[in-house]
Amino acid sequence: MPAINDPRVLVDAATQDDAAVFQVAPDRALVATVDFFSPIVDDAYAFGRIAAANALSDLYAMGARPLFALNLVAWPRAPELLALLGETLRGGADVAREAGVLILGGHSIDDPEPKYGMVAVGEAHPDHLLTNRGAKPGDLIVLTKPIGTGILATGLKRDLLTEADMAEAVGWMTMLNAGAMEAALELGGAVHACTDVTGFGLIGHLRNVLDASGVGARLDAGKVPLLARAHELASGGVIPGGTNRNREAANGYTTWGAGVDDATRTLLCDAQTSGGLLLCIDPESEVRLDRELAARSGAGGWTVGVVTGGPAGVVEVT
Ligand code: CO
Ligand code: CO
Ligand code: CO
Repeated sequence: MPAINDPRVLVDAATQDDAAVFQVAPDRALVATVDFFSPIVDDAYAFGRIAAANALSDLYAMGARPLFALNLVAWPRAPELLALLGETLRGGADVAREAGVLILGGHSIDDPEPKYGMVAVGEAHPDHLLTNRGAKPGDLIVLTKPIGTGILATGLKRDLLTEADMAEAVGWMTMLNAGAMEAALELGGAVHACTDVTGFGLIGHLRNVLDASGVGARLDAGKVPLLARAHELASGGVIPGGTNRNREAANGYTTWGAGVDDATRTLLCDAQTSGGLLLCIDPESEVRLDRELAARSGAGGWTVGVVTGGPAGVVEVT
């Protein structure tokens, strides 16, 4: 894409951040993102909820409060599948209502492979944005949801899991990152960087933070929260294509400790859907963040590593 040089543009694609940020007044910025994908669970209503929570997540990761959204739909014309589209849109609408987001329109096309998602628009104060470029050496790295949704969804696709086995993962994927964002904003300047964990996996999104911030990181693999059965499935080779590609890419900037087993390495690269926030915070604020997370999101946070002085962009996994 062409490089942007415009004072109104506070964040664009150059820093691989979660959403675009466009300043419209000294104290107001519009924040916009788009996300859509194919079903990862069999239940159409759950898919709609997951897709909406995932689309809104990029606003929360920027510290933006969502205003409205537009539906994006690609769907087969077959009448029996159109009923499932109704369920999907109902799921999206329910999550939007929970988030206080108005769905004002959208666009649909005929497509043999169903896809659903949203364009989401929010606003933030330009001085209180959460970006991926402020991580400092010594910061603690905190994650707000467990890892493994890509591997579990692949297990479901291969009939190794039932829908009931997916319930825990669906619970996390449909949980809005709104509470985690409110907790982060409550900490003010103690949050130095923020992103959400989605398709590039934990290590891939951490790497974007490190690149944008010019720092390195040490991850403690044993402290990364995992969904039940994720490690067992990864050990058995139940791995989505995107996760394999993430891992190949990660090998270029990651040093793996000898004690980190193969399945764990895969999990740290697992492509997530609607994952948690990844926050780099002043170490003195760890307890306070945990308390705010518990109060505002109903779930705590997991401290999974620490930001280091470098080498920049390199993740050391122990
Ligand atoms: Co994101
Ligand atoms: Co997005
Ligand atoms: Co149109």
